[in-house]
Amino acid sequence: MNSIEYDCYAALGLQENPFKIHALGANEVGKRLLVGRDEQVQLVAQRLHKHGKITCLDGHVGVGKTSLVNVATYDCFQAFLHGETTQLLVPLSESFQLAKDDNVNDFCDRVFRKVANGLLAHREQLKSFSFSGTNLEHVNAWLNSPIVELINDTLGGAVNAGVPLVASSTLSSSTTTTKQTNTSAGFSQEGFEQLVRKWLNEIFSVQGNGGVVCVIDNLELLESGAAARRTLEGLRDKLFNVNGLRWVFCGANGVVHSLAASPRLGSFLNTPIIDVQNITQSHIEPLIKTRLKEFAMGTDNMENCLPIRLQDLTTLYIIINSNLRDLLNLADEYCEHHFNIGKLDLTEEQKEKRFKDWLPKVTKDSYRTLSSRIPQDTWLVLDIAMSDNYKGTFGIGDFDSFSSNSKVQITQSTFEKWLRNLVKLGILSKSIEDSSTDDEFNRDVYTVTAKGSLVHYARFIANETKNTATYNWLRRIHY
Ligand SMILES: Nc1ncnc2c1ncn2[C@@H]1O[C@H](COP(=O)(O)OP(=O)(O)O)[C@@H](O)[C@H]1O
Ligand SMILES: [Mg+2]
Repeated sequence: MNSIEYDCYAALGLQENPFKIHALGANEVGKRLLVGRDEQVQLVAQRLHKHGKITCLDGHVGVGKTSLVNVATYDCFQAFLHGETTQLLVPLSESFQLAKDDNVNDFCDRVFRKVANGLLAHREQLKSFSFSGTNLEHVNAWLNSPIVELINDTLGGAVNAGVPLVASSTLSSSTTTTKQTNTSAGFSQEGFEQLVRKWLNEIFSVQGNGGVVCVIDNLELLESGAAARRTLEGLRDKLFNVNGLRWVFCGANGVVHSLAASPRLGSFLNTPIIDVQNITQSHIEPLIKTRLKEFAMGTDNMENCLPIRLQDLTTLYIIINSNLRDLLNLADEYCEHHFNIGKLDLTEEQKEKRFKDWLPKVTKDSYRTLSSRIPQDTWLVLDIAMSDNYKGTFGIGDFDSFSSNSKVQITQSTFEKWLRNLVKLGILSKSIEDSSTDDEFNRDVYTVTAKGSLVHYARFIANETKNTATYNWLRRIHY
């Protein structure tokens, strides 16, 4: 009997969707799939080894910050197991996220529970390693610690199953769970926290011994630099100097940079902040090949199994201004579409032709839809932003240069109005508000999004661009 295939990647012979947009995990698979970040992994690992300082990363949404931190943490853990470092850094399975009005106590509660779980999970893993002959009393103390049983009971006796808190759950739901856990185990929140702190002190008796790596991710969700500073300042004394915890802050749009302005946080941060850049276009083919190899069901070479050529994925990456998560999303849509119309089995020539037909069509459609919503001259900003001078990123202070490169007259206030409109349409993304700088400079930075880049491509191929600047980078890939 023929079974109906719903999953296009299974139909292609893959165990998993190679375009999954989740961050790579702190595990062996994550490590294998991470491409083009050797130096940065090394740098992050080095920062994680520095106790008393928070590792900080800033970079566009989807550039690969969480994946980078996860793999670096996993590397540190492995380095310990292989005797290459005496610091034990323990990864957690998930990162933490803060919302604007989060309650400090609830958040701390969530952290200590997650940390306890992480320690329990890795204790099992460490038990199978022999540390005999090494001078690591702290690890032995951990593995034989009587506190473990208590904590294990408190968490319901389960290490991975029945974990009472999921890091991404909201705080209000965590409160309910906490209550249940407390009642069942007879523990107050402070009691539990004290217990975990005691345990951490036992394992990591000296700060230099290592710690559990806790990542506070997506800080840009706090919406403004001031809100991020306020929220994190509130957590400082309860969390950021706890023995045995190593902290990492990740955020986009400059939010992490704006933390440095806080007198209460500044000295805690390991600076300079790591600015995570897009991986280069030359990494796209190896990145996809690695995934195809990882997820292959059989032993066949899967390099050409997708309905799109790998080099066309690179082209797409360039056109959307090098955003990795957006590329994976688009590639996924493209493959799904071909699956739905029953076209998976194509020759390389057919794939090339289809891609060449598809690209101008989708970009034009999206351009037309958006065009009806704003005055035509507004596109001028996008045209200049995508020129070789800016390559997609500019500041509000670049107005003079924008106006001199424009074929149309613009004033500063029109410029600002257009910027607001383009942000609203999702064509530009804007750095977060930062009220810490009370001087008269406006430091807003704008970046063209993947959507904006596709629209610009449509204008470019239709010869509608309204600027005098050049686009060598686009011409190079233009068919
Ligand atoms: N260096 C890399 N190699 C392979 N895949 C990556 C790499 N960096 C990120 N990814 C993938 O890109 C997507 C976005 O990565 P993520 O780490 O979540 O970005 P961010 O945290 O910056 O938003 C995920 O699907 C992830 O698997
Ligand atoms: Mg992330």
